[in-house]
Amino acid sequence: MGKNLILYFSRNGDNLVGGLVKTLEKGNTEYCAEFIQKAAGGDLFKIEPYIEYDEDYYACMDEATAEQNRRARPDLLYYLNRLDGYDNVFVCGPCWWGTYPMPVFTQIERLDWRGKKVFPLVTHEGSGLGSCVRDLQRFCRGAVFGPGLAVRGTLAPDSEKTVTDWVVRCLEAAGEESVRE
Ligand SMILES: Cc1cc2nc3c(=O)[nH]c(=O)nc-3n(C[C@H](O)[C@H](O)[C@H](O)COP(=O)(O)O)c2cc1C
Repeated sequence: MGKNLILYFSRNGDNLVGGLVKTLEKGNTEYCAEFIQKAAGGDLFKIEPYIEYDEDYYACMDEATAEQNRRARPDLLYYLNRLDGYDNVFVCGPCWWGTYPMPVFTQIERLDWRGKKVFPLVTHEGSGLGSCVRDLQRFCRGAVFGPGLAVRGTLAPDSEKTVTDWVVRCLEAAGEESVRE
């Protein structure tokens, strides 16, 4: 059975929940990443910017906008330098202005994707996958893409079944019979 890596970005702090700003102890995408690991096994790697985003929702929005406008590649706290040994890579993150947050691209760009199978997951509040998959495809040269999954952020803590069903489909697409018990 292939070896799985779950690369994810997720921000805790203030976020919009049902139209109201609430403080989240755990980011929405982190729930999904953990559900993937539970269903498929493998290693979790959290993409963490060296300088954290502001906890305040609106300040974070401004930071994200500025970074996106200049196509920033923010420094990370830790880098993953190789994908050796991994067959399947689940790339997970929130939709920020239609795409993944820039630190996801900082990490993605330094890896050699040839021969890897990539499964994108996005949490969002209405944009669905946005251009996340298209943008990933530009950077993961030589990878084969399987099905993507969009999860509404506010539903992420309760998304285990949806995520598990998708993981089963991903592993089937990757030519694997079954997920880990
Ligand atoms: C800076 C910022 C930009 C966002 N942009 C979008 C967007 O363009 N479309 C959308 O549907 N949701 C957007 N959202 C909502 C997030 O995608 C959603 O809350 C997500 O689940 C957050 O995941 P996290 O808690 O793992 O970081 C944005 C949130 C933030 C903080």
